[in-house]
Amino acid sequence: MNDPDTSQTAIFTAYLRSLLGQRYANEIAELLDCESVIEEVSVDNPDMESRGKFRMGLRGAVVRAAIDGSGLKDIVELGAGFSSYGLSYTDDPSYQYLEIDRYSIIRQKIRIIKRLVGDRPNLILHADNVVDTTAIHDAVGLHLGRGKPVMVVAEGLWPYFNPATNLSDLVWTIVLLLISRPGSTAIITDILVGDEVKQLVANWPTASRVMKLVGLPLDQYALPDLTTAFDLFRDHGLTVEEADLTSHLSPEFRTDPKDEEKILATSRHIIVRSQS
Ligand SMILES: C[S@@+](CC[C@H](N)C(=O)[O-])C[C@H]1O[C@@H](n2cnc3c(N)ncnc32)[C@H](O)[C@@H]1O
Repeated sequence: MNDPDTSQTAIFTAYLRSLLGQRYANEIAELLDCESVIEEVSVDNPDMESRGKFRMGLRGAVVRAAIDGSGLKDIVELGAGFSSYGLSYTDDPSYQYLEIDRYSIIRQKIRIIKRLVGDRPNLILHADNVVDTTAIHDAVGLHLGRGKPVMVVAEGLWPYFNPATNLSDLVWTIVLLLISRPGSTAIITDILVGDEVKQLVANWPTASRVMKLVGLPLDQYALPDLTTAFDLFRDHGLTVEEADLTSHLSPEFRTDPKDEEKILATSRHIIVRSQS
């Protein structure tokens, strides 16, 4: 499958975010038609919400910590979907936030943002293919300025790129953004690692349903190990570290310890930095 329907998972994650009470998340979920997606994913799975909430709560905490820790206020979110970071960060006018996704998503998101806050000049929505390196570079240069350090967010995007075909294109987009802008940082969530994917699928009916929903053979999309992902960036002189998940656990989304253990073991998020 070359072009999975990731808009379904974008809606699903928007719904999970609303359970976490993240700023603007409720309002976004209300304006999306989440019902059919939720139904399809959560049939016969009463734990879906608590597990999904934990996974998303943790992921959100890691992304926010990476953004805040970078000190950067020019942010580009690749495959932004229906996330709420853009809206919440740009409540502060000193942030400049660029969201990039496919046209069909961007069109809906523009409508949602208009409904929620009206004009928001420091939040820019741009439709493009994230693997079109030149187009993404031009868009970032145009909207966030050239050569300035940027914070790159790629949340829940990596799993949809097949290593055999276009994962290298996505990596190249991120590498070029970073190396052309010293002092930049990227947070990339949900790196798929072979054995962990098998574990994920065996343990979580939800994972299999989401995959079916988007037509995605995750096991074929996984890398053999995390080192392989690290090397993709290190080969270009970038530094890479794995985000420490345990420091971001919060009572707001904690769940059954056994579930937490499994989720922690299959959540790999990395932070990549260019030289200052
Ligand atoms: C799983 S969703 C995650 C959305 C959001 N980042 C989140 O965490 O809620 C993946 C998003 O990536 C977008 N996407 C996938 N491939 C893309 C591409 N080649 N160019 C632009 N956007 C893409 C999809 O449209 C979708 O919104």
